[in-house]
Amino acid sequence: MSAAMSFQSWYATAPRGAESALAGELAQMGCKGIRERPGLVRFTGTRETALRVCLDSRCVLRVLEPIGEFACTNADELYEGSRALPWVDLISAEQTFAVSATGRAPTLENTQFIALKVKDALCDALRATRGSRPDVDTENPGVRIAVHIGDGRASVSLDLAGSLLSDRGYRVRTVEAPLREALAAAVIRLSGWDLSRPLADPLCGSGTLAIEAAAMALQIAPNAERALSCEFWPRTMAHDGPALARLRTELAERARVRREQPPPQIRASDRDRAAVAAAQANVRAAGLEGIVRVGEQDARMQRPLDPPGFILCNVPYGERLEVGGKKQLKSFYHALGAAFRALPGHEIAVLSASEEFESAFGLRPRGRPLELWNGPLRCQLYRYAIMSGA
Ligand SMILES: C[S@@+](CC[C@H](N)C(=O)[O-])C[C@H]1O[C@@H](n2cnc3c(N)ncnc32)[C@H](O)[C@@H]1O
Repeated sequence: MSAAMSFQSWYATAPRGAESALAGELAQMGCKGIRERPGLVRFTGTRETALRVCLDSRCVLRVLEPIGEFACTNADELYEGSRALPWVDLISAEQTFAVSATGRAPTLENTQFIALKVKDALCDALRATRGSRPDVDTENPGVRIAVHIGDGRASVSLDLAGSLLSDRGYRVRTVEAPLREALAAAVIRLSGWDLSRPLADPLCGSGTLAIEAAAMALQIAPNAERALSCEFWPRTMAHDGPALARLRTELAERARVRREQPPPQIRASDRDRAAVAAAQANVRAAGLEGIVRVGEQDARMQRPLDPPGFILCNVPYGERLEVGGKKQLKSFYHALGAAFRALPGHEIAVLSASEEFESAFGLRPRGRPLELWNGPLRCQLYRYAIMSGA
């Protein structure tokens, strides 16, 4: 069996709190040995499976190929462990690279310092074996190296895509506090939407939830068009090039066949004209015009969907509160709760970063809220089911 056909371990990173949503996607893609850790999911699979995750996962941020792990409690161990890695096989003389780091040890608290140490070790190792060192390119490196330090160990990996898979490229216009695309996808999965019932986001901002929902329902692979770093690595290009070509054809055919079926009703609205314009531009950029309908409306005027469906939204949390703003925000949440209570048979999922939200909204959530992070912002996802005839 060739190395490319054999099973190996991979790491897929996710927005914090979205690990279970990512794990669900990975299981559907045939990944095995799935284990959730904070901010990442480990899995085993062939190289082709890992490439499929890069092209088709909506909740993933990065897919990482582990290349070494070693005990690491201080800078010397980090340097020595990194220097011993087989860099000469991993980075060719012509390639550029960049190192980024996460995590920490008691004497290694600064991620920039950690990245610098690994960079020095790599350069020294290559200078010693090859006589020259590769150049750093932080913007567009040929090989992006990810180092993580935790529990007294360092793990070093290569980023298959080389850039964040959650940046889909359709967000041509934005509003304040947009959701990261991978987080929006996780919210949709965690909401329990079945990809077919009508769905509306009445506080749509730049439209991320509605766009992700439509693309999911239409089985569009989010990154099928994107070039991955690993396609250009001399070590792996002979396998990855043809494997990715096969996967891209398969995924395009899947989306083409799905387009022959009617799409679900998906609506995005906002009361802010600039947000409506941004959502419209983004829907167009995502190729979803005619699928996601965008309009200007106050969320407190939300009418029942027909047939009853899902309301998904992320509420404003008072990014710029003026005097009296907190009271206003609470009364807005209260009015929103009253409007949504009048939607019998609907399921509702609200992502909120505000501590005031739950009590002011006033509906009783189904189950415990789920903690999710929108970058540095801690949020809760509340799910509700409005009884028919309520
Ligand atoms: C946190 S943002 C939503 C961000 C969005 N999820 C995204 O990814 O861009 C909240 C949105 O609620 C909108 N909003 C505030 N009050 C509203 C109301 N009464 N009716 C409709 N939209 C409202 C704001 O204009 C803002 O776009």
